Amino acid sequence: MKYRIAPLFCRPWTLNGISARLIESHYENNYGGALHRLNALTEELERLDPETTPAHVLGRLKREESAALNSTLLHELYFASLGGDGRAVPEAMAAALARDFGSVARWRKEFIALARALADDQGWALLTWLPRDGWLINLSATDHRQSIAGGIPILALDMYEHAYHLDFGANATAYIASFMRNIEWAAVQGRYEDAVKVEPPRPLVQKQFADVPAISVEEVTAMLAAGTPVQRQIIWFTDQTGSHHL
Ligand SMILES: [Fe+2]
Repeated sequence: MKYRIAPLFCRPWTLNGISARLIESHYENNYGGALHRLNALTEELERLDPETTPAHVLGRLKREESAALNSTLLHELYFASLGGDGRAVPEAMAAALARDFGSVARWRKEFIALARALADDQGWALLTWLPRDGWLINLSATDHRQSIAGGIPILALDMYEHAYHLDFGANATAYIASFMRNIEWAAVQGRYEDAVKVEPPRPLVQKQFADVPAISVEEVTAMLAAGTPVQRQIIWFTDQTGSHHL
């Protein structure tokens, strides 16, 4: 068994308006089921010969593997997102939300609207850090697929029906409100602090051209605007990522 089950990250009996029975059922049946499926798929993939396996079989197994793996990761994040007082956002986290969404209230409205939109569709509402761009964004992920490569989700809301039907029936709005009341912001902030340490992808470095004079995109633009001839020589310029272009 390659992947191991994680302990339940919240204490279900302490939650406000969400029953322990719902959380325990969710953890055992849905999270546990995804982990079991993931291990079965992993073993199947390890057994088969990649050179002789039909492409459609390999493609299906890899799609199922990514969905099961993502389901386990996001379920662990979901349970770790619960257990606190959702109204008390710590200062650093509040500042980050205000910086990237305008205000905490604006972030909250966006996140709730995104979750509501998923109620008929099923999926995950995620608050995600983008190392490449250096900001937070609300995202949805359906079919358990992580929607943004390289993004680091720090808060997850499960909008699959199994996450709330037992307590809330079809009332997704009441479930979302309960989730928001139980967010463990101190843990979210801890994950945010870890996420911002992740370096963005390195820019392309071409050491072989280190001695070629480089000018910036802005300088080329200024030359063109001024009518300065850009000719008779190879012009290299450097964009914001440090890449050299012809
Ligand atoms: Fe779930």
